[in-house]
Amino acid sequence: MKILALGDVIGRPGRQALEFFLSSLREEYSPDLIIVNGENSAGGAGMTFAIFEELTHKLGIDVITMGNHWMDKKEIYNFVHKHENIVLPGNMGNVSDPRKGLFIGTTKTGHRYAVANLIGRVFMVEGNKNPFDFADMLFSYVPASVRVRILDFHAETSSEKQALAQYLAGRVSLVYGTHTHTPTADHRILRNHTGFVTDVGMTGPYDSVIGTDTEASLRRFLKGEKKGWGPAKNDIQLHGILTEMDSATGQCLKIERIRRDFAST
Ligand SMILES: [Fe+2]
Ligand SMILES: [Fe+2]
Repeated sequence: MKILALGDVIGRPGRQALEFFLSSLREEYSPDLIIVNGENSAGGAGMTFAIFEELTHKLGIDVITMGNHWMDKKEIYNFVHKHENIVLPGNMGNVSDPRKGLFIGTTKTGHRYAVANLIGRVFMVEGNKNPFDFADMLFSYVPASVRVRILDFHAETSSEKQALAQYLAGRVSLVYGTHTHTPTADHRILRNHTGFVTDVGMTGPYDSVIGTDTEASLRRFLKGEKKGWGPAKNDIQLHGILTEMDSATGQCLKIERIRRDFAST
């Protein structure tokens, strides 16, 4: 079973990169399952219903994970609970039902899988609950027969991400980080079972400060101004990981990084 997991998709530039590259990625890798983090997919903050439909129906993405920006577009409250394949960070203080942090599905090719989404506590918004406890709880809801177990851990620090991955090593198939919008090169398989990377990186404009317009970001850091925010436009790249799983055991057999440069094609 092959899984393509992509990190935070940043606004229109990120969605354009997805549209441009997904068909060739499908041709090259034939992924059974595609997971995308959608917390920044609408103008860099949140996800609208139109964009949810674009990602799922038009682009064929199977599961959308989220993060601290999940509720930035208030209309999400109207549709988030009608679509099981939108997975919220189950331990976030403003997520009332922790079960919304877990989706159990079956691929068109017949593989069963579970995707969980959790958020960190270090350098993050206040009120997030213990992700270690919540990981145990969410995965305890997964039937024993579903061996492919995946976690998008949306967190700021490499240490918290690696600690949770080590905590779950040998018990889940894949732990990957999102939220920093910065890809790391430490992809590996823990305990010969659990694929891991600290952050898959964003799909969006890299001539930026984590996807945000550089001038606006500098105004914030230099003058404390918080206006003119929005996605940058240039050096658009797609980043993610491609993993191969043994769906009978849940063992991650292979993990590789994926990068495509939109600007240079
Ligand atoms: Fe993000
Ligand atoms: Fe985030």
